[in-house]
Amino acid sequence: MGVVIASHPETRTEDALERLAALTHAEMERVNALILDRAQSHVDLVPKLAHYLIESGGKRLRPMLTIASCALFGPGNGNQINYAAAVEFMHNATLLHDDVVDESDMRRGKPAARKVWGNQASVLVGDFLLGQAFLMMVEAGDLKALRVLSHAATIIAEGEVFQLAKSRDLGATPKDYNEVVRAKTATLFEAATVVGAMAGGGSEAAQKALAVYGLELGWAFQLIDDVLDYGGASGRFGKNTGDDLREGKMTLPVILALEHADEAERQAIAAALGNHETGIGAVTEIVGIFERHGALAATLEQAHAHAEAAKRALSAVPASTMRDVLADIADFCVSRAY
Ligand code: IPE
Ligand code: IPE
Ligand code: MG
Ligand code: MG
Repeated sequence: MGVVIASHPETRTEDALERLAALTHAEMERVNALILDRAQSHVDLVPKLAHYLIESGGKRLRPMLTIASCALFGPGNGNQINYAAAVEFMHNATLLHDDVVDESDMRRGKPAARKVWGNQASVLVGDFLLGQAFLMMVEAGDLKALRVLSHAATIIAEGEVFQLAKSRDLGATPKDYNEVVRAKTATLFEAATVVGAMAGGGSEAAQKALAVYGLELGWAFQLIDDVLDYGGASGRFGKNTGDDLREGKMTLPVILALEHADEAERQAIAAALGNHETGIGAVTEIVGIFERHGALAATLEQAHAHAEAAKRALSAVPASTMRDVLADIADFCVSRAY
């Protein structure tokens, strides 16, 4: 099963993640050490479950963005290490909770933590990680950054609740979808880049530019994640193809297809949505409906537009190798779908 377009015309984006990793390597070593240290607890199950997730190969994209956003402006006041670790903890906490809510079986190419230790332990260890994230922010001692990250934590939860409220709602609109994406994903990317810029001593204007960059990048990232859910071989991205459909998620491809679907197509989509028995054959049929109405291509187009907006925002910060890599990261986030 494939997403609409087979190959990507650009190649320089392919290694953007590696280049970002290379440029942030020294500080990310400190971030990773802090992450491992703060996942410790005398209650065995906490580090066991936390390490299982933390060491299972996440991209560490958000903490690298914090480090990179700081480095655009200078060596930083040191807070970037705590912020980066806190952002990754927030992300991992949300993933633990999200997999319970979504009843997902796979995460990062392995059985989700909830499949190994159960839903209850996953929720509780998620809470532990969130608590540790807040401790690290408080230790940094900057109320403005604490405000940005606390705000993000609230908005993410709100976005997940709104998504839940809209699940299987055939009347969901692109506006609803965009509200969910902005809240559950883009806001954490935005927070990650803004607190990085704060630690780096970037001006108010620079922080604003980084906020736009992070927000738009996160938006593109989730649009692509939602396209990928319908494409690629099962497990290729460490999750199951078609899970969003089985979970009843009203992502943009579904919403756009429903706008144009005839009665039979509408019924096929309605029958598959939120039905955990929906097999790969039915997913393929739904992808066929999407393709007939250009729903995946239109979603990709929107992702492109957000990535372009992210790149435009960078023109307000001084030119540097790091800035170029951040621009390439925007392209990389979109090229993941090809
Ligand atoms: C997954 O994010 C959650 C979404 C916002 C789609 P990532 O794809 O960045 O997850 P990891 O950390 O690399 O596993
Ligand atoms: C993103 O939503 C997860 C959060 C931002 C909490 P998804 O539900 O689409 O993420 P995956 O697909 O499970 O990684
Ligand atoms: Mg999920
Ligand atoms: Mg998803």
